[in-house]
Amino acid sequence: PLVRTGELVSAAAEQRDGRGGVAAFNVITLEHPEAIAAGAERAGRPAILQISENAVKFHGGRPAAVAAATAAVARASAAPLSLHLDHVESAELLRAADGEGFSSVMFDASKLTYEANVAATAEAVAWGHARGIWIEAELGRVGGKDGEPPLGAHAPGVRTDPAEAVAYVSATGVDALAVAVGSSHAMTNRTAALDHELIGALRRAVAVPLVLHGSSGVPDDEIRRAVAAGMVKINVGTALNTAFTAAVRAHLEADPKTVDPRKYLAPAREAMTGTVAAFLKVIGG
Ligand code: G3H
Ligand code: ZN
Repeated sequence: PLVRTGELVSAAAEQRDGRGGVAAFNVITLEHPEAIAAGAERAGRPAILQISENAVKFHGGRPAAVAAATAAVARASAAPLSLHLDHVESAELLRAADGEGFSSVMFDASKLTYEANVAATAEAVAWGHARGIWIEAELGRVGGKDGEPPLGAHAPGVRTDPAEAVAYVSATGVDALAVAVGSSHAMTNRTAALDHELIGALRRAVAVPLVLHGSSGVPDDEIRRAVAAGMVKINVGTALNTAFTAAVRAHLEADPKTVDPRKYLAPAREAMTGTVAAFLKVIGG
């Protein structure tokens, strides 16, 4: 069924035995939500289906079609799945999210100065809360999006400061906070080392659930430790695409005469399903 992100995150945050993670997987093609739903059913866990601003751009700039298809997959699934709009930088897209089935949005003003981030995010929160939409925002820079160098993984200077995080949450009213603790977006090898001391300090200081971005680059054990220390929403994108593309490549290399896309999309979807189920087991304890 289609459920609300706020419910999934709250339920996960209330567990205190280190099993409190909920995974959010990025959607690009229709095979992505199908695989995420199948993987969640296989693992017996809920999941968040998230569509990024970049994925919306890929689908022509409007969220309606990709959101409707993704929500339909969620409604038909036995697993509890929610719909989230991810890494929104454009205020116009934020407003376009209303009425498309999204129960949550990550509004990303992390590239702005602290003051500008607070002002833009507070406005997004006021807009969201007036419509019952749960809002996540980012303080510090996870980095690595859109081909930029992996800031978060290698530059402690961009990591989230606990005292600043407390002030940020109270000034903006966000429902969840994405923090920079050593991971970076779009890593294709799992070599990121998380700053566990910082995760603990943030968890103790910040009242709202914490979100780990760039989780594809983080080894399983580091993810387990992060969840045990209080990271609640765990975002995974690239790992699905690595599985998808490897399966497509393997099929086309073995059978270069293929014409029907279903011949390579079926194994690609199955590969993503396996990745989703394995990931859910890691964060599910
Ligand atoms: O918001 C999306 C995630 O942070 C995905 O990051 O593609 O590096 O797993 P990733
Ligand atoms: Zn992210």
